[in-house]
Amino acid sequence: MAQSAAKGNEMTAFHDQRSQGAPAEVYEELLRQARGLFEGERDVIANAANLSALMAFHLEGLNWAGLYFLRGDELVLGPFQGKPACVRIAVGKGVCGAAVAKRASVLVADVHAFPGHIACDSASQSELVVPLLRDGRVLGVIDLDSPRKARFAPVDQAGVEALARLFVEACDWP
Ligand code: SME
Repeated sequence: MAQSAAKGNEMTAFHDQRSQGAPAEVYEELLRQARGLFEGERDVIANAANLSALMAFHLEGLNWAGLYFLRGDELVLGPFQGKPACVRIAVGKGVCGAAVAKRASVLVADVHAFPGHIACDSASQSELVVPLLRDGRVLGVIDLDSPRKARFAPVDQAGVEALARLFVEACDWP
């Protein structure tokens, strides 16, 4: 009993179940799993919680993976995996707020070189923020942080943008 509990804990550690293969294949697998998880469930919080867990477990080299939702002119923290993070970010502030203002993904190779970057975890060195868009309206963002500089490439941006589209379509929005 104690042994199986310990084994279960090992298996659920933050980085222990990364997908293998080229990044494009990893994102295909993530999309496949996300489709399965979202099937029959349209709750935003439930699906965001599973999406953040999927990204944290399957993408290597992350220290934070989660979502923020737009409430008025602020982003408010949603489900995530990683250290506790800043709860509210004004549109235009930080990398997340910049992605909302631009209605476009922001890929930052070195967060220290990004004016106004908000450091929630001092380990973060690079970041990818992808907006959640529906009919041209921003609903929130997906935010990924890495303790490695230049962790994110265009293939990551394309993969997370595909996940964002799937997530937006899979949920009922208020
Ligand atoms: N670094 C982000 C803040 C959110 S955390 O990384 C979780 C930003 O500059 O907007």
